[in-house]
Amino acid sequence: MFSAIANMLGGGRDAVSKAGANSIARRCVDDEATRMRLHYKPYYHTFEAQRGSRVVRDGREFVMLASNDYLGLTHHPKVLEAGRKALETWGASTTGARLANGSRVCHVELEERLAAFMGKEACHVSAAGYLSCMSAIQPFSRKGDLVLADKNCHSSLLAGIQAGLGENLRFSHNSPESLAELLAEEAPERPKMVVLEGVYSMEGHIARLPEILRVCEGRNCFFVMDDAHGLGVLGPGGRGTAAHFGSTDSVDLICGSLSKALASTGGFVAGSRPIIEFLRTHSKQTIFSASLAPVQVACALAALDVLETEPECCARLWENTRRYKEILADFKFDTWGSETPAVPIVLGSRERTYIFWQKLLENGVFAVPSLVPAVPPGKDLIRTAVSARHSTADFDIIAKALKAAKSLW
Ligand SMILES: Cc1ncc(COP(=O)(O)O)c(C=O)c1O
Repeated sequence: MFSAIANMLGGGRDAVSKAGANSIARRCVDDEATRMRLHYKPYYHTFEAQRGSRVVRDGREFVMLASNDYLGLTHHPKVLEAGRKALETWGASTTGARLANGSRVCHVELEERLAAFMGKEACHVSAAGYLSCMSAIQPFSRKGDLVLADKNCHSSLLAGIQAGLGENLRFSHNSPESLAELLAEEAPERPKMVVLEGVYSMEGHIARLPEILRVCEGRNCFFVMDDAHGLGVLGPGGRGTAAHFGSTDSVDLICGSLSKALASTGGFVAGSRPIIEFLRTHSKQTIFSASLAPVQVACALAALDVLETEPECCARLWENTRRYKEILADFKFDTWGSETPAVPIVLGSRERTYIFWQKLLENGVFAVPSLVPAVPPGKDLIRTAVSARHSTADFDIIAKALKAAKSLW
């Protein structure tokens, strides 16, 4: 069994001996999930070129239907120019943490601009959204606190919860009713944290924020919302989910990623000044990790400029979302009630999802399968996302590929 798997992985005896003689190294060679991934190859595809909304792999062009380039700004001339200039001014890296040698004026400028944009007093940026989301929870969660998180929260939020010291309970996805039931069993004065996403990345659902805030009234709750997929997409001028509901002041921390609508990499946490300063004192993800590279800071700043001065990119995103959802509705696909440009196509089993995904690929569309346990049982799906950059020609290819995939059953 062991050597058969090693052979399948392509290494045979060599892989076994390279893996070494200890249990943990052998466990890696024997891992079922890795074996399946390497056999079916649904992930880690490498593109040799990108042209607008198209990517090239093995000389063949695909419409990219899996990126989070919601506003289509990754190749915007202003973003590219800002990146080039920053690279020349600041070099490739700060080679240090913000707390030590890694702070530059561009970091402070981005933080002030993001805070003002989202209607918060202060902001802290870091090298990845994953770190930012962890840091929005870990330092604030103390022994004796209760952390109540939506069951479908992103892995980065769950990592932050696990790194904190508070007790953790999960409420049913986007269900104020389920949250209310958990709250009813707790003393109102116990310190609590409520963790949710503004737009759920896999499902495309918008948080039922007003109802969730209502059930938490008088319950001593600190609110953390990951708006990685809401910033630049929802709310007036793309100001995000809290602004969409006019509830910015009720959410203590808004965290998220710069790698979606803002076409860069990195992450942010925005809140009141005392809360952000507390985070800078206590967040391990901030203190012990090198700062966001200035080139990425500059790209995010330029993308924010574009978002503020060219609101038509946001309008184009929603127009494209409408067009795409019309196509999906014509084929009667189950899109899990997605309300946003993040649109799942729910297929319900690993096999169906895999075959569907392959058919899309054969027909020139690149999307990504998401399988149990990454999604709830029975919800295996293809995760797709619309970009403002998708063209009529792209949608024609997408429609044909969906038709071919649908014809399989
Ligand atoms: C909801 C959500 N939060 C956080 C992250 C992490 O962001 P990053 O890719 O910048 O680390 C992601 C990215 O997948 C996300 O979808």
